[in-house]
Amino acid sequence: MASFLPLLLLTAFLSAKPALCYVHPGARLLERNGTEHSGRRDFIVLVEPPPLGHGDAEDDHRRWHESFLPLSQLADSDDPPRLVHSYTEVFSGFAARLTDAELGAVSKKPGFVHAFPDRTLQLMTTHTPEFLGLRKDAGLWRDHGYGKGVVVGVLDSGIHAPHPYFDDHGMPPAPARWKGSCRGSAARCNNKLIGAKSFVGDNDTSDGVGHGTHTSSTSAGNFVDGASMNGLGAGTASGIAPGAHVAMYKVCTVDGCSGGSLLAGLDEAIKDGVDVLSLSLGSNEPFSFDQDPIAIGAFSAVSKGIVVVCAAGNRGPELETLSNEAPWLLTVAAGSVDRQFSAVTRLGDGKLIDGEGLHQTTRNPSGRSYPLFYSSNQSVCGSVDTGSVRGKIVLCEVDPAEANSVDDIKLAGATGVVLMNSAIDGYTTVLRDFGSDVVQVNGDGGASIAEYAASRKPVAAITFNNTLLGVRPAPTVASFSSRGPSVLNPGVLKPDILAPGLNILAAWLPLGTGKGAGTFNIISGTSMATPHVSGVAALVKSAHPDWSPAAIKSAIMTTSDAVDNTGGPILDQQHAKAGALLAGAGHVNPTRAADPGLVYDLGVTDYAGYICTLLGEKALAIIVRNGSLSCHDLPKVQDTQLNYPAISVPLRQSPWTVRRTVTNVGPARSTYRANLTMPGASSTVRVTPETLEFSRAGEKKTFSVTVTGRASGTVVVEEGSLSWVSASEKHVVRSPVVVILGYAAAPPPPPDGSWA
Ligand SMILES: *[C@@H]1O[C@H](CO)[C@@H](O)[C@H](O)[C@H]1NC(C)=O
Ligand SMILES: *[C@@H]1O[C@H](CO)[C@@H](O)[C@H](O)[C@H]1NC(C)=O
Ligand SMILES: *[C@@H]1O[C@H](CO)[C@@H](O)[C@H](O)[C@H]1NC(C)=O
Ligand SMILES: *[C@@H]1O[C@H](CO)[C@@H](O)[C@H](O)[C@H]1NC(C)=O
Ligand SMILES: *[C@@H]1O[C@H](CO)[C@@H](O)[C@H](O)[C@H]1NC(C)=O
Ligand SMILES: *[C@@H]1O[C@H](CO)[C@@H](O)[C@H](O)[C@H]1NC(C)=O
Repeated sequence: MASFLPLLLLTAFLSAKPALCYVHPGARLLERNGTEHSGRRDFIVLVEPPPLGHGDAEDDHRRWHESFLPLSQLADSDDPPRLVHSYTEVFSGFAARLTDAELGAVSKKPGFVHAFPDRTLQLMTTHTPEFLGLRKDAGLWRDHGYGKGVVVGVLDSGIHAPHPYFDDHGMPPAPARWKGSCRGSAARCNNKLIGAKSFVGDNDTSDGVGHGTHTSSTSAGNFVDGASMNGLGAGTASGIAPGAHVAMYKVCTVDGCSGGSLLAGLDEAIKDGVDVLSLSLGSNEPFSFDQDPIAIGAFSAVSKGIVVVCAAGNRGPELETLSNEAPWLLTVAAGSVDRQFSAVTRLGDGKLIDGEGLHQTTRNPSGRSYPLFYSSNQSVCGSVDTGSVRGKIVLCEVDPAEANSVDDIKLAGATGVVLMNSAIDGYTTVLRDFGSDVVQVNGDGGASIAEYAASRKPVAAITFNNTLLGVRPAPTVASFSSRGPSVLNPGVLKPDILAPGLNILAAWLPLGTGKGAGTFNIISGTSMATPHVSGVAALVKSAHPDWSPAAIKSAIMTTSDAVDNTGGPILDQQHAKAGALLAGAGHVNPTRAADPGLVYDLGVTDYAGYICTLLGEKALAIIVRNGSLSCHDLPKVQDTQLNYPAISVPLRQSPWTVRRTVTNVGPARSTYRANLTMPGASSTVRVTPETLEFSRAGEKKTFSVTVTGRASGTVVVEEGSLSWVSASEKHVVRSPVVVILGYAAAPPPPPDGSWA
């Protein structure tokens, strides 16, 4: 069974390929197949809705679900309850603990539809609002009340409620429609934190991990003065939507997050009335949407108007490594920020090597030079001969499996350690607190120091230089951020959007076991990028309460930045052009997202037609759950034809034409011209018509994009963009256009395949 973990990345497991993305000091790292309980396993069971006359209240659903289960639990009180969760919103069905024989009996009852084994999912800042162009008392924040009136539901590891990020100064009460509450121990509701519930069986919403506290503060934490970690990044911190309310649904523990708990959390969040859902978790393996608790649960949420934002995964830099690929999700990749916690290594030849350090203290006279130790056959820190490091500065590469080796080198008397990134991580330095006298340098810096170390009597000095802002280039895509193309649906471009996810400062647990206010921590992952975008979704939702989730997603994607802070294209961890398979539509730009001009909208019928084409009738029943819809009557919607705000064409046939429809959400009378660029040599793209004229708000116009190309042995993907530019040039509605001309590895799936 696949495992889901928080999509957080700590450097202890910073490796060429961080297969498991989450670790926390004291936490066990688990990959497991779900829990066994004396021959029983957890299953998620889909059944028909309660028959007429059965009632539609929660208790009626529960009784209907219990009627499928063996009776033994009533007789034998030692028997653990079979029914683990009973769902009403996300799913017609329940989670239950059953032996295979019992499951056989359940499957013979009238009303049974389908069962699948539960899966363990993995949980895969002071400055980021400013980096995203948000300023206190100005612009979007001021005009739209900082996300006022919107509820962001976070499914995660719980929340440290006393943290000042969750103080409610300046917050109005929860909206009148809100049905949620704080339940169980450790929960303290106020006007900021308006809901906290646990679905992991402990009735305790406190956060034993830190992850949920970090993600919720990033999305909608209140303003906090004096935030910093080890004195770094100091300033007034806040979430992206500091005026929005937070509701925590605890579905994860240090062991991961079960699919059954996740569905229960989604079920409750929908009933409570959240507006935006933030899920910094995912599976390490892509699995079919009709087997994926996130895809299934999120569909119900989206069909009720809730925007669902998910992490793309931490399995980069290889291609085809995404989690959360369903088109109704907003899938977020992770990028760097223009901030460095600067630590400079001065070499004996006068050269200065930029680096970073999360712990900017030294036990030695600052700036003094010491002999430099580096041996190419002991380049990994764990392999360094600690007998020869006393009084020296050691250059080595941290082996994720042996993070303690840095301590060993310091204990052996080294005056400092310069940790270099492995080549594969390039310029992505995932910072970790290794204590005093440790500097982290990127691959380039490490190579320069190693080269110098071969000279006679090499020496080096380390100087800490605190927090630098305005670092260029930024953003860059982080090496760990998962990449497209989507394996399950290559005709839908994923990831959707890039947001800050490298070395992000936000709320953390109090040190030790105290119940204090809490601290701050700087951590990395697509887990950290996700709440930035859920915060932006809250800002857009606050400005446009009537927009559909697809319209909000379109607004966020088509207004994103294609360029970095040097004005050039967004780069990757090697400083090569990143492109849409890494960065999606671009880097999120909240200020423009509230006023996109045009949106690409999608509704339940579009998704349902797409699900039919991709997976068939049974998947429609599981995911869409509307008895009056059948694949026979629905429009056939291929992946490339879904009205998505990005265009991805796996060229199985040339020419290939896709159609899109845009809705005018800008000025009533407006004219847009197409601005198409496709610089590649192997494909050409044409758009018709090239001008769209609107005379009223809400008006829709359809256009088509025709791609012509030939497969090439070397070029696998070509990309460009299509922008609809308004006459005033105030609105530029940009979509990436990706043409997949050949696959390096697997062949493309069939056009209307049923490969589930
Ligand atoms: C998990 O299940 C798969 C097949 O279902 C099996 O190959 C694998 O060994 C199992 N892993 C563990 C840790 O039990
Ligand atoms: C959880 O705690 C609440 C009190 O906040 C209590 O009413 C409820 O019965 C508890 N539930 C369980 C399953 O212990
Ligand atoms: C390791 O490298 C050093 C010089 O850098 C060399 O003297 C030594 O022989 C090497 N050891 C091995 C086992 O290769
Ligand atoms: C230290 O930071 C300051 C700016 O705060 C900068 O001007 C200076 O060049 C930095 N020193 C080094 C050695 O990089
Ligand atoms: C089911 O689909 C029909 C037809 O599109 C629609 O009218 C109805 O509102 C849907 N029912 C629900 C519960 O969404
Ligand atoms: C059209 O696209 C090109 C290339 O992306 C860009 O340089 C140019 O500024 C765009 N023109 C307008 C009016 O947006």
